Amino acid sequence: MEAEGTEPAISATQITKWFGEGETRVTAVNHANMVAHFGEMLFIVGPSGSGKTTLLSMLSGILRPNEGQVKVKGADIWTLNDDQLADFRLNTVGFVFQDYHLFPRLTTAENVAIPLILKQQDWNQSIDEARRYLGVVGLQNRTEILPVKLSGGEQQRVAIARAIIGGPQILIFDEPTASLDGDTGRAIISFVKDHVLNDKRCILIVTHDARINEYADRILHMEDGHLASTSAKGEGTE
Ligand SMILES: Nc1ncnc2c1ncn2[C@@H]1O[C@H](COP(=O)(O)OP(=O)(O)O)[C@@H](O)[C@H]1O
Ligand SMILES: [Mg+2]
Repeated sequence: MEAEGTEPAISATQITKWFGEGETRVTAVNHANMVAHFGEMLFIVGPSGSGKTTLLSMLSGILRPNEGQVKVKGADIWTLNDDQLADFRLNTVGFVFQDYHLFPRLTTAENVAIPLILKQQDWNQSIDEARRYLGVVGLQNRTEILPVKLSGGEQQRVAIARAIIGGPQILIFDEPTASLDGDTGRAIISFVKDHVLNDKRCILIVTHDARINEYADRILHMEDGHLASTSAKGEGTE
């Protein structure tokens, strides 16, 4: 048996997803192959409509591929039953979306505590832990206010705290900087690289924001449903 940690975080083989049938069929992702490793921040870059969100949804147990296989830590996620899949989404994957998806009537601490509440942890304990994670993202003084009082960059930090509080090994960011100005976007990604990435974690970032490419360990290009070969950052030896 292979030693733990040598399995790729994610490996996708020939995954395909189409929407609609017949003349109206759109193939959003077309026989895509990719591997992502623990300890790396992998970017998937491509124009709007190229299939990035659809790809992420198949990798994270949200959307079942029409064809192909997705393995996470060596296990084929699309053979899991519904309960196992729900468990996988809750415990293994953390998501950060472009428009944050914060609940406007909950305080920042309550927003961050949601994954723990879903895991049936005690409310007060969950809120305490949420405050601690808000400290990690530099928002220790903003724990009891509503999201509307925060700047875009601060809201994104709340979303990051919420994504990492349950300790998921795979973190997925879908266009995380699209609603932020350039400096704030770069600050968020640089923060994630310094404080959130570690050797037990794999971070996938989907973006068409070239301003943040410099933070990628590796970049995959997506175009019209096709995922092109890897370009290692800096040199061509990967
Ligand atoms: N639920 C859906 N129903 C029908 N078409 C969809 C659906 N989701 C995505 N698509 C289509 O699939 C293609 C890829 O979309 P998407 O994965 O959202 O691209 P991206 O995230 O790169 O902008 C687009 O043509 C889009 O219109
Ligand atoms: Mg998208």
